[in-house]
Amino acid sequence: MQIIEAEKIIANDPKHARATYAPEYEKGSAYTQDTYRPIDQGVVPITDAGFIHADAAYDVVSASAGYLFRMQDHIKRFTASCGKFGLVNPYTEEETVEILTNLVKLAGLKDAYIWWAVTRGELEDGNRVKAKYNNKFYAFVTPYLFIHGDESRIRGIKVRISTDYIRIPPQAVDPTAKNFHWMDMKLSLFEALRHGAEWSVLTDADDNLTEAPGCNVFLIKEGVLKTPDSGCLEGITRQTVFDLADELNLGVEAGKLPAQELVDADEAFLTSTAGGVMPISHVNDRPLGGRNGPGEQTTQIHNLYWNKRWAGWLGDPIDYDTGINVAVSAENRRRPG
Ligand SMILES: Cc1ncc(COP(=O)(O)O)c(C=O)c1O
Repeated sequence: MQIIEAEKIIANDPKHARATYAPEYEKGSAYTQDTYRPIDQGVVPITDAGFIHADAAYDVVSASAGYLFRMQDHIKRFTASCGKFGLVNPYTEEETVEILTNLVKLAGLKDAYIWWAVTRGELEDGNRVKAKYNNKFYAFVTPYLFIHGDESRIRGIKVRISTDYIRIPPQAVDPTAKNFHWMDMKLSLFEALRHGAEWSVLTDADDNLTEAPGCNVFLIKEGVLKTPDSGCLEGITRQTVFDLADELNLGVEAGKLPAQELVDADEAFLTSTAGGVMPISHVNDRPLGGRNGPGEQTTQIHNLYWNKRWAGWLGDPIDYDTGINVAVSAENRRRPG
């Protein structure tokens, strides 16, 4: 079995062709200061604590073939992330879904990357001690992006387990609340690139696997899927892999995973909303399973993931034919306080 060229299919299959959109939305759409805008006009106030202190919660959902994937799971996780950081979304969950759907429709995208955040916002009276903030909602939509495209997924990615950095501990910033603290992940990625690898994986202080920049990590050993159960985001793609493994009758174990188990794995892959299932071929320069390329079970999971998504699995169809009234700013519907 071969890894399907999902990126090529999305680019060429008429099922994925863009619906009509105004030319200013070519690159995508944004929602800032309670107004819909073309993405290059989506600006953020420079004193927003989300920008200056990474004080925010966010989430990313995707659409493919015109279906929003597991929207309610993302919304549920986002509300929980806000709760863990004491942030209040100025919009209800229903309004949030409506804004995100409208952004996708404005850009006419069947395959979309859909990002949104609630930041602490700006200080109400400039007084940092009183720290009274107006939490702010921001969102944008762009064409769907694969962290690792067809070429990389077909041959498998070379990853390096970081030796210079560890993942920020849960007692510092809770990784189950999706957040803006990316410095550990970004620096480990640059470290990996310097060493000729293509992506990084981070451990905790005890050398157990946590996650990778923007991704969860899985390994397969003797037919059993293994993934960390702590120190990481509870990824929606990770959950999707649990569901697919069930369908394929593969065992799954979530638990503590010493980094060495990834080096010794038969197969491994990364998972993310931005790219789905992304096979790993090498860990610290060692080819997994003595192969040069993705393993059989990883390939099966990868292909099933995309084929089921394109058939509408766990998806909400987007109605591109019904217009939206962007002139009615959601500001009018904001809840007081
Ligand atoms: C740190 C981190 N871990 C894991 C993931 C994967 O989560 P999901 O599958 O929900 O996209 C992400 C997604 O951006 C992430 O930022």
